[in-house]
Amino acid sequence: MADPGSALERLRVLHAQIRACTGCRLHVGRTQAVPGAGPSVARVMIVGEAPGATEDSVGRPFVGQAGRLLDTLLEGIGLARGDVYVTNVVKCRPPANRDPEPDEVEACRPYLDRQLALIRPRIVVLLGRHALERLLPGHGPISRVHGQPVIRAGVTYFPIFHPAAALHNRGLLSELEADFRALARYLESGPAPEAPPPSTAPASSAAPVEAGVDTSPPPGHQLRLF
Ligand code: URA
Repeated sequence: MADPGSALERLRVLHAQIRACTGCRLHVGRTQAVPGAGPSVARVMIVGEAPGATEDSVGRPFVGQAGRLLDTLLEGIGLARGDVYVTNVVKCRPPANRDPEPDEVEACRPYLDRQLALIRPRIVVLLGRHALERLLPGHGPISRVHGQPVIRAGVTYFPIFHPAAALHNRGLLSELEADFRALARYLESGPAPEAPPPSTAPASSAAPVEAGVDTSPPPGHQLRLF
């Protein structure tokens, strides 16, 4: 039987809570919530905006066109999807892919906070303005701060453009690629020293990455942006 105190088990429980959540209006229109996917202890965590239509139907984050671009960019710096934990600011799809409302972001706040406390990433990649505003409020517009690491309490936040923005505006693609190269250099040169463990976290973050949650590849190809 799985150790109920392990990070993996706690993450499974959290994912189940998210799937059952009715904390805001977004649960009404969803097919399913999209908690996140990846190893339960990961050096790198990626935070996007919200699930889109493909994610809502598959139940995993970044499995549409933006997700494929994300995979390509990760591969380009030697990372596979299974190396990173990926989630979103809000866990249910906003109707017609509109921006999440502030009260929806607030309703999901404890889930993202808990994911950060459980997974204990050293680097949190913020994809786009919603993730930036949620985790570094008031830090500045993404167009100005992208590609520049920000260290807070031993965690490095790395804001970059959202892959979907580069799909809409091809001119941003070279900036996004440059941001990923900056991220790769940062990963190589060694990020911030480790933060002290939060009280809810597992005892050792130096433990090897455990078996993941929901890391299997999505079925088929999705061509939708979201
Ligand atoms: N898919 C996601 O899971 N999140 C986004 O922000 C965009 C697409």
